[in-house]
Amino acid sequence: MILSHIVAVSENEVIGKDNDLLWHYSEDLNYFKKRTTGKIMIMGRKTFESLKKPLPKRFHIVISRQNIDSPHENVKFVNSLSEAYQLADKMTLSSDQWPEEVMIVGGGQIYKESLKDADFLYITRIPGEYQGDTFYSLNIPAEFKIAFSQFSNEVPGLRYEIWSKERKDD
Ligand SMILES: NC(=O)c1ccc[n+]([C@@H]2O[C@H](COP(=O)([O-])OP(=O)(O)OC[C@H]3O[C@@H](n4cnc5c(N)ncnc54)[C@H](OP(=O)(O)O)[C@@H]3O)[C@@H](O)[C@H]2O)c1
Repeated sequence: MILSHIVAVSENEVIGKDNDLLWHYSEDLNYFKKRTTGKIMIMGRKTFESLKKPLPKRFHIVISRQNIDSPHENVKFVNSLSEAYQLADKMTLSSDQWPEEVMIVGGGQIYKESLKDADFLYITRIPGEYQGDTFYSLNIPAEFKIAFSQFSNEVPGLRYEIWSKERKDD
Protein backbone atom coordinates (compact mmCIF):
# COMPACT_ATOMS: atom_id res chain seq x y z
CA MET A 1 0.00 0.00 0.00
CA ILE A 2 1.20 3.48 -0.87
CA LEU A 3 -0.16 6.33 1.28
CA SER A 4 -0.63 9.78 -0.24
CA HIS A 5 -1.87 13.00 1.27
CA ILE A 6 -3.93 15.20 -1.01
CA VAL A 7 -4.57 18.69 0.32
CA ALA A 8 -5.22 22.25 -0.82
CA VAL A 9 -3.55 24.82 1.42
CA SER A 10 -3.34 28.60 1.46
CA GLU A 11 -0.14 30.64 1.83
CA ASN A 12 -0.77 30.92 5.60
CA GLU A 13 -1.36 27.15 5.93
CA VAL A 14 -5.16 27.32 6.22
CA ILE A 15 -7.19 24.39 4.86
CA GLY A 16 -10.69 25.09 6.20
CA LYS A 17 -13.08 26.91 8.47
CA ASP A 18 -16.31 25.87 10.22
CA ASN A 19 -15.92 22.41 8.70
CA ASP A 20 -15.91 23.71 5.15
CA LEU A 21 -13.48 24.89 2.50
CA LEU A 22 -12.81 28.61 2.08
CA TRP A 23 -12.29 28.73 -1.69
CA HIS A 24 -13.81 27.19 -4.77
CA TYR A 25 -11.55 26.43 -7.70
CA SER A 26 -13.18 23.98 -10.08
CA GLU A 27 -9.80 23.13 -11.61
CA ASP A 28 -8.53 21.97 -8.20
CA LEU A 29 -11.74 20.05 -7.50
CA ASN A 30 -11.24 18.27 -10.83
CA TYR A 31 -7.64 17.55 -9.87
CA PHE A 32 -8.87 16.03 -6.59
CA LYS A 33 -11.44 13.99 -8.52
CA LYS A 34 -8.83 12.72 -10.97
CA ARG A 35 -6.40 11.77 -8.20
CA THR A 36 -8.98 9.98 -6.03
CA THR A 37 -11.47 8.34 -8.39
CA GLY A 38 -11.34 4.56 -8.25
CA LYS A 39 -9.30 4.62 -5.03
CA ILE A 40 -9.71 4.10 -1.31
CA MET A 41 -9.77 7.34 0.67
CA ILE A 42 -9.04 7.68 4.40
CA MET A 43 -10.54 10.66 6.24
CA GLY A 44 -11.59 12.01 9.63
CA ARG A 45 -15.23 12.01 10.69
CA LYS A 46 -15.48 15.81 10.34
CA THR A 47 -14.21 15.81 6.77
CA PHE A 48 -16.65 13.03 5.92
CA GLU A 49 -19.50 15.14 7.33
CA SER A 50 -18.31 18.12 5.29
CA LEU A 51 -18.80 16.09 2.09
CA LYS A 52 -22.58 15.91 2.80
CA LYS A 53 -22.77 12.60 0.92
CA PRO A 54 -20.25 9.93 -0.13
CA LEU A 55 -18.33 10.60 -3.33
CA PRO A 56 -19.05 8.26 -6.25
CA LYS A 57 -16.53 5.65 -7.45
CA ARG A 58 -14.44 5.86 -4.29
CA PHE A 59 -14.32 3.91 -1.01
CA HIS A 60 -14.42 5.98 2.19
CA ILE A 61 -12.68 4.76 5.33
CA VAL A 62 -13.80 7.20 8.03
CA ILE A 63 -12.00 7.48 11.38
CA SER A 64 -14.01 8.24 14.52
CA ARG A 65 -13.77 7.35 18.21
CA GLN A 66 -17.53 6.77 18.12
CA ASN A 67 -18.95 3.50 16.87
CA ILE A 68 -20.89 4.42 13.75
CA ASP A 69 -22.57 2.17 11.20
CA SER A 70 -22.88 3.53 7.70
CA PRO A 71 -25.85 2.79 5.46
CA HIS A 72 -23.62 3.33 2.42
CA GLU A 73 -21.84 0.37 0.88
CA ASN A 74 -18.80 2.50 -0.02
CA VAL A 75 -18.32 3.89 3.51
CA LYS A 76 -16.84 2.11 6.52
CA PHE A 77 -16.18 3.68 9.93
CA VAL A 78 -13.18 2.58 11.97
CA ASN A 79 -11.89 3.64 15.42
CA SER A 80 -8.24 4.47 14.69
CA LEU A 81 -5.72 5.32 12.03
CA SER A 82 -4.07 1.92 12.37
CA GLU A 83 -7.43 0.22 11.86
CA ALA A 84 -7.88 2.37 8.74
CA TYR A 85 -4.49 1.25 7.42
CA GLN A 86 -5.26 -2.41 8.15
CA LEU A 87 -8.57 -2.26 6.29
CA ALA A 88 -7.08 -0.37 3.33
CA ASP A 89 -4.16 -2.78 3.12
CA LYS A 90 -6.47 -5.77 3.19
CA MET A 91 -8.71 -4.28 0.49
CA THR A 92 -5.83 -3.42 -1.84
CA LEU A 93 -4.31 -6.88 -1.43
CA SER A 94 -7.50 -8.92 -1.72
CA SER A 95 -9.06 -7.34 -4.79
CA ASP A 96 -7.90 -5.94 -8.12
CA GLN A 97 -10.64 -3.35 -7.74
CA TRP A 98 -8.56 -1.13 -5.48
CA PRO A 99 -5.17 0.24 -6.55
CA GLU A 100 -2.16 0.23 -4.28
CA GLU A 101 -2.29 3.99 -3.73
CA VAL A 102 -4.57 4.96 -0.83
CA MET A 103 -5.46 8.65 -0.54
CA ILE A 104 -5.51 10.45 2.80
CA VAL A 105 -7.94 13.31 2.21
CA GLY A 106 -7.98 15.13 5.58
CA GLY A 107 -8.78 16.93 7.57
CA GLY A 108 -6.31 18.74 9.77
CA GLN A 109 -6.18 16.13 12.53
CA ILE A 110 -5.83 13.16 10.21
CA TYR A 111 -3.16 14.84 8.04
CA LYS A 112 -1.12 15.58 11.18
CA GLU A 113 -1.43 12.08 12.59
CA SER A 114 -0.59 10.35 9.31
CA LEU A 115 2.22 12.57 7.96
CA LYS A 116 4.91 10.22 9.28
CA ASP A 117 3.35 7.34 7.28
CA ALA A 118 2.84 9.19 3.97
CA ASP A 119 4.84 8.28 0.85
CA PHE A 120 3.58 11.15 -1.34
CA LEU A 121 2.11 14.59 -0.68
CA TYR A 122 -0.10 16.10 -3.38
CA ILE A 123 -0.25 19.73 -2.31
CA THR A 124 -2.26 22.37 -4.12
CA ARG A 125 -0.87 25.74 -3.14
CA ILE A 126 -3.79 28.17 -3.00
CA PRO A 127 -2.76 31.80 -3.58
CA GLY A 128 -3.50 34.29 -0.80
CA GLU A 129 -4.08 34.19 2.93
CA TYR A 130 -7.34 33.15 4.60
CA GLN A 131 -8.79 33.32 8.11
CA GLY A 132 -9.44 29.72 9.04
CA ASP A 133 -9.54 27.26 11.94
CA THR A 134 -7.84 24.22 10.40
CA PHE A 135 -4.26 24.06 9.17
CA TYR A 136 -1.71 22.00 7.21
CA SER A 137 1.95 22.71 7.94
CA LEU A 138 3.97 23.71 4.89
CA ASN A 139 7.12 22.98 6.84
CA ILE A 140 7.53 19.78 4.83
CA PRO A 141 9.77 17.22 6.56
CA ALA A 142 13.24 17.00 4.99
CA GLU A 143 12.74 13.36 4.00
CA PHE A 144 10.33 14.56 1.29
CA LYS A 145 11.73 15.90 -1.98
CA ILE A 146 9.79 17.88 -4.54
CA ALA A 147 9.04 15.67 -7.54
CA PHE A 148 6.67 17.91 -9.50
CA SER A 149 5.62 21.56 -9.44
CA GLN A 150 3.39 23.25 -11.97
CA PHE A 151 1.40 26.47 -12.01
CA SER A 152 -2.25 26.33 -13.00
CA ASN A 153 -3.15 27.48 -16.51
CA GLU A 154 -6.39 28.96 -15.21
CA VAL A 155 -5.83 30.43 -11.77
CA PRO A 156 -2.96 32.91 -11.32
CA GLY A 157 -0.65 31.82 -8.53
CA LEU A 158 -2.25 28.42 -7.91
CA ARG A 159 0.36 25.66 -8.03
CA TYR A 160 0.27 21.87 -7.93
CA GLU A 161 3.12 20.15 -6.13
CA ILE A 162 3.97 16.51 -5.59
CA TRP A 163 6.43 15.62 -2.84
CA SER A 164 7.92 12.16 -2.66
CA LYS A 165 9.48 10.52 0.37
CA GLU A 166 13.01 9.33 -0.25
CA ARG A 167 13.34 5.64 0.41
CA LYS A 168 16.07 4.64 2.85
CA ASP A 169 17.57 2.30 0.24
CA ASP A 170 17.78 5.03 -2.50
N1 LIG B 1 -8.22 22.05 2.03
C1 LIG B 1 -8.26 20.73 2.00
O1 LIG B 1 -7.62 20.08 1.16
C2 LIG B 1 -9.09 19.99 3.01
C3 LIG B 1 -9.22 18.59 2.95
C4 LIG B 1 -9.99 17.95 3.91
C5 LIG B 1 -10.61 18.67 4.90
N2 LIG B 1 -10.47 20.02 4.92
C6 LIG B 1 -11.08 20.82 6.00
O2 LIG B 1 -10.58 20.37 7.24
C7 LIG B 1 -11.58 20.60 8.24
C8 LIG B 1 -11.82 19.32 9.01
O3 LIG B 1 -10.62 18.92 9.64
P1 LIG B 1 -10.55 18.62 11.23
O4 LIG B 1 -9.13 18.56 11.64
O5 LIG B 1 -11.47 19.55 11.93
O6 LIG B 1 -11.25 17.18 11.35
P2 LIG B 1 -10.93 15.75 10.67
O7 LIG B 1 -9.45 15.47 10.75
O8 LIG B 1 -11.60 15.65 9.35
O9 LIG B 1 -11.75 14.79 11.66
C9 LIG B 1 -11.50 14.82 13.03
C10 LIG B 1 -12.23 13.67 13.68
O10 LIG B 1 -11.61 12.44 13.29
C11 LIG B 1 -11.64 11.54 14.36
N3 LIG B 1 -10.27 11.24 14.77
C12 LIG B 1 -9.15 11.99 14.61
N4 LIG B 1 -8.07 11.33 15.08
C13 LIG B 1 -8.52 10.15 15.53
C14 LIG B 1 -7.89 9.02 16.12
N5 LIG B 1 -6.55 8.99 16.32
N6 LIG B 1 -8.64 7.96 16.47
C15 LIG B 1 -9.98 7.96 16.27
N7 LIG B 1 -10.65 9.00 15.69
C16 LIG B 1 -9.91 10.07 15.34
C17 LIG B 1 -12.45 12.21 15.48
O11 LIG B 1 -13.80 11.89 15.22
P3 LIG B 1 -14.91 11.79 16.39
O12 LIG B 1 -15.07 13.17 16.91
O13 LIG B 1 -16.14 11.27 15.69
O14 LIG B 1 -14.36 10.81 17.40
C18 LIG B 1 -12.18 13.67 15.20
O15 LIG B 1 -13.15 14.54 15.74
C19 LIG B 1 -12.79 21.13 7.50
O16 LIG B 1 -12.80 22.55 7.53
C20 LIG B 1 -12.58 20.66 6.09
O17 LIG B 1 -13.26 21.47 5.13
C21 LIG B 1 -9.72 20.69 4.02
